[in-house]
Formats: sequence, C-alpha cells, structure tokens
Amino acid sequence: MGITRQQLIEGDLLRTQIHVGGQWRDGSGGQRRPVTDPATGEEIVSVAVATADDVRDAIDAASVAFASWSKVPAPQRSKILRRWYDLVVEHTDELAEILTWEQGKPLAEARAEILYGAGFIEWFAEEAKRLYGEVIPTNNPNRRMLTTRNPVGVTAAITPWNFPAAMILRKASPALAAGCTMIIKPASETPLSAFALVALAEKAGVPAGVLSVVNGSGSEIGGVLTADDRVRTISFTGSTEVGRTLMAQSAGTLKHLALELGGNAPLIVFDDADIETAVKGAMDSKFRNAGQTCVCANRILVQDGIHDEFVAAFSKAVAKLRVGDGRDPEVTQGPLISQGALEKVQSHIADAVGKGATVLNGGEVTELGGTFFSPTLLVGATREMVIATEETFGPVAPVFRFSTEEEAIELANATEFGLAGYFFSRDIGRITRVAEALEVGVVGVNTGLISYEGAPFGGVKQSGIGREGSLHGIDEYTEMKYICIEGVA
Ligand code: SIN
Repeated sequence: MGITRQQLIEGDLLRTQIHVGGQWRDGSGGQRRPVTDPATGEEIVSVAVATADDVRDAIDAASVAFASWSKVPAPQRSKILRRWYDLVVEHTDELAEILTWEQGKPLAEARAEILYGAGFIEWFAEEAKRLYGEVIPTNNPNRRMLTTRNPVGVTAAITPWNFPAAMILRKASPALAAGCTMIIKPASETPLSAFALVALAEKAGVPAGVLSVVNGSGSEIGGVLTADDRVRTISFTGSTEVGRTLMAQSAGTLKHLALELGGNAPLIVFDDADIETAVKGAMDSKFRNAGQTCVCANRILVQDGIHDEFVAAFSKAVAKLRVGDGRDPEVTQGPLISQGALEKVQSHIADAVGKGATVLNGGEVTELGGTFFSPTLLVGATREMVIATEETFGPVAPVFRFSTEEEAIELANATEFGLAGYFFSRDIGRITRVAEALEVGVVGVNTGLISYEGAPFGGVKQSGIGREGSLHGIDEYTEMKYICIEGVA
C-alpha cells in the first residue's frame, strides 16, 4: 500500500467538511454520513452533510463572489487556474490514493483520472484568454455592431461517483475560466476527492465563494439549486432519469443545462478488422473502471466471418484481468461501487442466460466476495435480452452476432441512448459510412479510448445535451451579448 491516511491528513488533503463561501465547516444540521471503502466495506471517515440552508449560503456567497471574479482580467484568472493545475499534478499520488480508497478503481486508473481531469484545468486556463467575441460587418455606416461573451453567473455541478475527480474538473474549469462561480455537489459515495480538489483550488488562490462544495442528499440539494433563479447553469453527469428530473425542475427558472447522461455504447467488429486492435479496443472500452463508465461498450457486435476468432482472442484477454483491491499494483479491476451495482450486473447476466446466452468467462462474484465481480464474457446475446437495451454499468461483455453492415448499424442504433459508439474496420469506405450512420455524439474508430480534454464529449438522443471539453465546453457558462452602437460616424 502506498500513501497512508496519516500522510493524507498531514498533507491537508483528507478533508471531511463542506466548503461554503471560503469556509470549511460542518453542515448547519450537524449531520454526518460515512464514506465507505468499496474494497473492504469499512468506513474511511464520516463527512459533513449540507442542509438546504447551507446550499443557500453557498449560492449567496457565489453571487457575491461573482461580482468580483467576473471582473478579474482573463490572464489573471488563467494564472490562478494554471496554479490549480500545477498543484493537482504535483499531488497526483495523494489524490489518486483518495480516489481509489473511496471509489475502488485500480491506482493506475486513478492516477490516469487525476491527470485526465487536470488536463481540463490546463485547457480552460488557456481558453480563458481566448473567449473572443465578433465584429459584425455593419448594415449602416453610422453603426458598429459587435458581440461579447459574458459569464452566466452562479453555476452548479452535480457529479457522479464513477469519475470523482475528472467530472468535477471538466465542469469547474470552464466555469471559472469564463468568470463564473460554481457550487459542486459531488456524489455521496465519493465526496473526498471533491473536498481535496477544492482544498487545492483554495491554495492556488481561487477567491472565497468562487468554488464551494456541498455534500448531501441529491434531491434536497438539487431542489435548492434548480429552484434558485441566481443559479444560471447546472451541469450534471449521471442517469437519464435524474437528468430529466433536473430539467423539469429547472423549467421555472429557465437555466442552461449541460446533461451528460446514460449510454448503451455499441462496439462493432467487422470482418475486415485487425483482430488484435479490436480485442485491445474492446478490453479498453469495456473493462475501464470495471465497466462503470457511461462510454463503456455495452454491446459487442461481431460479424459472422470473424466471430469465432474474435471471441477466442477476447476470451483469452478477459481471463488475464486481475480482480482485487485497487491499491494492489497487480490489480486491473477493482470492486463494484455498491451492492446495488452488483445486483444489477447479476440480474442482466441471469436474464441473458435465461434467454439463451452462454457464459464464456466469469459470471459470478470472485472468491474475494463483497462486490468483486469476475470479468464476464457472454456469447449468443440477442436483442430480446435486457442487456441489449439497458446500460449494465459493470464488467459484462455480451457478444451479438450479425451478418451485414446494414444489420450492424440498425442494431447499434436500436437504443434510446446515443453517447459513444465504436467500430473496428480497415476499409475507408466503411469507416466513413458507419461513422456517419451511428446515432451517437462520440465515435471511436479502431480504438476503445476516446476521452481527451481537447475533444468535445457529449451525447445525442436520451444521452444528453451539450458538450464538455474542447473549445465548446465553455459555451454553457457564457451568454452572448450583441452590442449595436449608433452615431459613430
Ligand atoms: C463518464 O463515464 O461519464 C465519463 C467518461 C470519460 O470522460 O471518459
């Protein structure tokens, strides 16, 4: 085991209080709730729980701070963000330790997540200086016309447990770069990463009230954030069901919503694919974070001519995964986040097997017990199975067989979701056709890993609204103003 609890406490990163208006404090109701290590089931620490009053305090503070933060010149905001980036990178090991502790993913993946998340701070620190407006060719010699892009005001981020650091940084970095203030509501399972990141932001010089973090009941905090007119943007990553609720609740105050919701990613292996590349891509996409990402391949579609060869190679690769405590450097797959997550995985497998699928690898809890689930490969999957339409969010790869390109596209698109899609082919004509035909926001061709701070991430259909990362990821935090000046000539 690497860094100890004592080292984290001494480094001032193991925080257990909420942060409101620049103050670390307990919730006004005095309540605490445990944060549990999914690998051992043991309590790590108990953390403060925010009440509705605490959330309103955070909004008040964010409103006051907005008046000054939005006026800080962009290069200065950029420098503060750059300092935050440097501190996050400098503390990668401690942050990764906290992340693995509360979330379960292997340390190597946790480190990769911290650096991935830090990439958003660096990217948007630079974008802060490039938030350009336009000069419009005038329709009247006596007028000048221009646009400016202005920060929307107070914003909020509601983030998930599967990426406790990166999803916060993907939202907070563009918000702060644009001149907005933000209130973070992290997942109740994983607030420690959020607290640690905000502690580093404070150290970097982010002023009081600009970035607050409140931990507690999603429905209570979401209710206060959506009802308050001063909160102008809510960015949420999580389930489609909760995304719909937030949208309905925000109708009364007409907010910007950035919603990154559920997925049901197809991963298609065509006859002309390179088998090694396809197996690597399927492993990367399916088993990252034990299958607990919105962009994990949920359905593996394999063409007749390559089916048996691909399945044999895939099965060999799946058998090499090592399940265990994420702090063990040999481990490549950690525990599932909760008993509920485990039960969902088990029910999808039982349904598939009951309808004719065969288990080639795994299919059960490992000898470690708890929520350690063996990486599972199913063959003979069909569209009648629950796994065809619902996101499993676990280490289960169901293989569907198909004959033609048209059939693969039809099957891939036969879902209400449209976040990511992957396919493997060496035929440039097919690559163009299929990339254009997939109804998704993100396409991976001959790769299972597509995430990068400089590329736009987001879905179509019921997978969400808006894009995060890239030059577009700042859009939800800005409003365009058109200024028409009469009498200049
Ligand atoms: C997610 O699963 O929501 C995010 C995955 C990523 O950013 O790669």
